[in-house]
Amino acid sequence: MTQTLTLRRPDDWHLHLRDGAMLKGVLPETARHFARAIIMPNLVPPVVTMADAKAYRARILAALPQGMVFEPLMVLYLTEGTDPADVAAAAASGLVKAVKLYPAGATTNSASGVRDFDKVRAVLDKMAEIGLPLCVHGEVTDSSVDIFDREAVFIDTVLDPLRRKTPGLRVVMEHITTRQGVDYARDGGDDLGATITTHHLIINRNHILAGGIKPHYYCLPVAKREAHRLALREAATSGDARFFLGTDSAPHVDALKEHACGCAGCFTATNTMALLAHVFEEEAALDRLEAFTSSNGPAFYRLPANTNTLTLTKGDAVRWPAKILTEAGPVTVFDPGFPVHWHVEG
Ligand code: NCD
Ligand code: ZN
Repeated sequence: MTQTLTLRRPDDWHLHLRDGAMLKGVLPETARHFARAIIMPNLVPPVVTMADAKAYRARILAALPQGMVFEPLMVLYLTEGTDPADVAAAAASGLVKAVKLYPAGATTNSASGVRDFDKVRAVLDKMAEIGLPLCVHGEVTDSSVDIFDREAVFIDTVLDPLRRKTPGLRVVMEHITTRQGVDYARDGGDDLGATITTHHLIINRNHILAGGIKPHYYCLPVAKREAHRLALREAATSGDARFFLGTDSAPHVDALKEHACGCAGCFTATNTMALLAHVFEEEAALDRLEAFTSSNGPAFYRLPANTNTLTLTKGDAVRWPAKILTEAGPVTVFDPGFPVHWHVEG
């Protein structure tokens, strides 16, 4: 008997598309399956103003192949110079759906991020007033904090105080990787949501380090120990409306991944839906996949859910390209390390 699964078309609530030749190469990988995505603004230079977001959106739409439909949901990169009035105007126009907080130095292209939270107080207050979500990269940058503890320490020392200081601020804890992240999101009330990536449901830190270093599994926040992966699986497959998919698909060319100082990022746009069907089936939760990929995200962002659908069929092992050959160079597609049998139709 063929098993098929038809879902509301999914959205990706955390995606890196980059720019130029890389954008052109990777955009079809997302647009093939996803209706919309929250587009990360960590370009060089970053997408800071409404004008920057408008221009970047136009470049994304210009890179979309004929016949594909995709809606980029734009995000502003919060800097200590961000103007609250510009943020409010960008939100009111419908162009911008969120603002992104990178602690300065936390990850790829985050040098323009926030060091002194008092300098962004007026922006955060304005966002709380208008209900515009703040997407948070939740890791401290203090070099004395162990990299595997940086998310848990961030929650206690930065996120919780920030939320207490800004009542009503709507926050997305992005790409959570720990049990502490799951617990905090679950207890956080209606103003708090959390995205979970595909790869953090599949790998733990052994995949990166045991039996030789595997640069294509290195991303930030770095994958943690197995108990955390299991907590993430439980959260993602629970149906709880606070948890939704943000792939954090983050392309870097192979030459920069396979390097003495390799870039952080897993590229999962190509096979995310097949991998998620596999994971949800393993957890006997296929009936909750749609909540995670297609309903909980729009509900948090106060956007309508998609009305069109995506169908997956179970069959022979799926083959996908090992690499996407962009004009910027080859990008390795995330390899789960096991066969996957869910094919996305169309
Ligand atoms: C992202 C990137 O490459 O831009 N990398 C990553 O490992 N996820 C940045 C980020 O989201 O941290
Ligand atoms: Zn990211």
